[in-house]
Amino acid sequence: MNSKKVTAEEIKAMKARHEKIAALTAYDFPMTRLLDEVGVPLILVGDSLGMVVLGYTDTTLVTMAEMEHHVRAAARAKPLALLAADLPYRSYETVPEALKNARRLVAAGAEAVKAEGGVVIQQQVRAIVDAGIPFLGHLGMLPQNVREEGGYRVKGKVEAERQKLLEDAQALVAAGAFGIVLELVTPTVAAELTQAISVPTIGIGSGTDCDGQILVTPDLLGTFPWFTPKFVKPKLNAAEQMRTVIEGWKRSI
Ligand code: KIV
Repeated sequence: MNSKKVTAEEIKAMKARHEKIAALTAYDFPMTRLLDEVGVPLILVGDSLGMVVLGYTDTTLVTMAEMEHHVRAAARAKPLALLAADLPYRSYETVPEALKNARRLVAAGAEAVKAEGGVVIQQQVRAIVDAGIPFLGHLGMLPQNVREEGGYRVKGKVEAERQKLLEDAQALVAAGAFGIVLELVTPTVAAELTQAISVPTIGIGSGTDCDGQILVTPDLLGTFPWFTPKFVKPKLNAAEQMRTVIEGWKRSI
């Protein structure tokens, strides 16, 4: 359990200490508070909220206003964990937009922001970091590109993808990112990236050799049973347990 506020610098220092970084998503007050009570050092208000909370088909429909609403709820838990939030789809296409929207998330209570991409958003990342806002990168399968890519596909299987991932990771580090989420990257390339860069890699579906791991909390707990990514083994079947309790209560009245 943490006893002092976690900062982006502390997350970076965990890599140097070879301490695994556990990260999970939260979209509201109670889950943020629970994760914080357990001592999870990095909590993300992810735009996965589009699917697991708002019922959208993918993350591209999530708006800034929706992100702000959920960041405010999560921030009310005043976690010791570092509270990061996703910049939603098309909210960071230019440097002024990226800066304005990162500031909006910070005003809602986020302490760091995350966005998807590498070299293409390097200027935006630099501007965000220069404004004093810690930035978390996201490479590999980029859920905000799911429509263009036609699905969720593992990255790094071919040399061109491996090279691109390395270039993108280096661009993010050069721009000042304090860590990089690697989503659906082949375990070999994820391990190589982890060795190659100075900031922590936080894997999701990218093998065990990243500096940390992140999951969408409903996938871990089984509260969104209608879709579970292949790489997740839920540790609880909460939806089934809830159904049983609700049925029992319904019969009892
Ligand atoms: O939106 C999200 O929850 C994420 C995680 C999958 C890393 O980006």
